[in-house]
Amino acid sequence: MKGIILAGGAGSRLYPVSKIYSKQLTLIYDKPLIYYPLSILMLSGIREILIISNQETIPLYEKLFENGSELGIKIEYAVQSAPNGIAESFIIGEKFIGKDGVTLILGDNIFYGNLDFIYRAMNNIDGAVIFGYRVTDPERYGIVEFDDSGKAISIEEKPKKPRSNFAVPGLYVYDNKVVSIAKSIKPSARGELEITDVNNEYLKSGKLRVEKIGRGVAWLDTGTPESLLQASNFFGVIEDRQGLKVACLEEIALKKNFIDRKKFESIVAGIPNSLYKTYLEKILNEN
Ligand code: G1P
Repeated sequence: MKGIILAGGAGSRLYPVSKIYSKQLTLIYDKPLIYYPLSILMLSGIREILIISNQETIPLYEKLFENGSELGIKIEYAVQSAPNGIAESFIIGEKFIGKDGVTLILGDNIFYGNLDFIYRAMNNIDGAVIFGYRVTDPERYGIVEFDDSGKAISIEEKPKKPRSNFAVPGLYVYDNKVVSIAKSIKPSARGELEITDVNNEYLKSGKLRVEKIGRGVAWLDTGTPESLLQASNFFGVIEDRQGLKVACLEEIALKKNFIDRKKFESIVAGIPNSLYKTYLEKILNEN
């Protein structure tokens, strides 16, 4: 299984900072937003990751992660030259995906809680697995409708009259067919290759599984200043209370055995004095 993070988008709802800055680099409490989706891929065991973004932002991600070897993973980068839609990721990433399955996570989507059911889906894929999360503002998302037996029967992108409150979060698990499906769909009225159209193709062929996410999991949206502040507060509360960080990539790399203790020590030694370094030193002493 390969992993793709789509970290593009104009982020115009964050103007004026969007003039100079990519949303996925915004600080969520104590680390850049993109750390959170990257942590999900790493925790599932995925070690080959493609980050797709626009031309201006790619160099910033490269500076942040280089080729991923510090985290014991392999990170490649690709440019999406215009906002042509989420599904274009599989066309841009065709070579990277090769013959494997692929999990796509949007660079501004945050998940928190017991995510074992997601990791299981990522490690055993035949067809497609997407998720359904109850929200109060369904007009803003891809919305999935279920029949009485709990089977998904339709998915609509940003419906004016939503048929349910279950939004499809930006975490999608596919087998290799997703590449040819992405190539076969046509742009929508808003000029994008819609991920919802990809999901509907899988639905038509009986190969789509939609798992409802229960109330114990947080899926946070981070498109607006208000939602960024909420996410920062959310993780600030949890991290300060437990003294444990969420989405600390170096810690995850160590715990997943992507890097050994010696490598971890050398990483910690190279970090400038900061609370982040103090935290990693604590992890070192406790392990
Ligand atoms: C996109 C998808 C939508 C999905 C959402 C999750 O919306 O098109 O189906 O529910 O991500 O964040 P957009 O980013 O285009 O608003």
